[in-house]
Amino acid sequence: MNTPASADATPYVHGYSAHESRRLADQADTLAALLHSGTVYPVGSKVLEVGCGVGAQTVHLVSASPGARFTAVDVSPDSLAQACSRVTSHAPEAQISWVQADLFELPFPDAEFDHVFVCFVLEHLSAPRQALTALRRVLRPGGTLTVIEGDHASAFFHPASAYAHAAIDCQIQLQSAAGGNARIGRALHPLLTSAGYEDVIVRPRTVYADRSRPALVNGFTRNTFIAMIESIREPALSAGLMTPPDWDRGLADLHRTATDDGTFHYTFFKGVAVNPA
Ligand SMILES: C[S@@+](CC[C@H](N)C(=O)[O-])C[C@H]1O[C@@H](n2cnc3c(N)ncnc32)[C@H](O)[C@@H]1O
Repeated sequence: MNTPASADATPYVHGYSAHESRRLADQADTLAALLHSGTVYPVGSKVLEVGCGVGAQTVHLVSASPGARFTAVDVSPDSLAQACSRVTSHAPEAQISWVQADLFELPFPDAEFDHVFVCFVLEHLSAPRQALTALRRVLRPGGTLTVIEGDHASAFFHPASAYAHAAIDCQIQLQSAAGGNARIGRALHPLLTSAGYEDVIVRPRTVYADRSRPALVNGFTRNTFIAMIESIREPALSAGLMTPPDWDRGLADLHRTATDDGTFHYTFFKGVAVNPA
């Protein structure tokens, strides 16, 4: 697993593998309508996306706001290169610059941007409030910050399984050991408020998948959520968080939630807040 050279020094728990790139793209494409609805930036406005990764959200951002001028930042040069190629092929007309930087040391003047967008980044940082405060410097007074995060403890499903919950808990524990917080979604409102933002509005955005929504079962339950848990088998077992038989039962039970008899629920949280004048 690569580690971003962040001033915050929090390892990025999911790493930068081809498997993870595919998972991020599946997640973004499956959830685009759910997560991006309401996010449209005016023509000519300057928008900063922080932690763009492989550009999985960027393609949806630029498509929803074709007249806005985007700057996308990530600490990983490899991810940025993939993001550039993804956006160039999906939206060649997009107005976008790519900048490799750490969000704690952004190389932009004060108040440079009208809007900032951050998705699935805070959960990996050991200092999320300080990150939100640092972003205020580059956001103009009156400009908006949009932030989207998940909350892994919001996962519940049918058939219920203590083994499946224990496997999910391994992800929560590993992320916590790496300095992050896989349950950060529920904390967005207090985080934004304590970082000095005003007019903070946070709302849940729920994914519910059953056999009547096969695209969500495949794109979210299987290819996003279960794929994420499957990817931490080795570190979870090495850390002694579960025994191999219990892990295998947990994963088998998770897969049952994606069969015709199963259902799966997960809640994301989306916040919009204003940088005070
Ligand atoms: C889970 S990925 C999310 C990527 C993208 N936002 C998405 O939703 O698909 C988190 C990204 O944040 C980046 N990141 C982590 N710490 C960072 C930092 N201090 N500065 C800039 N980017 C950072 C990682 O390199 C990674 O690409």
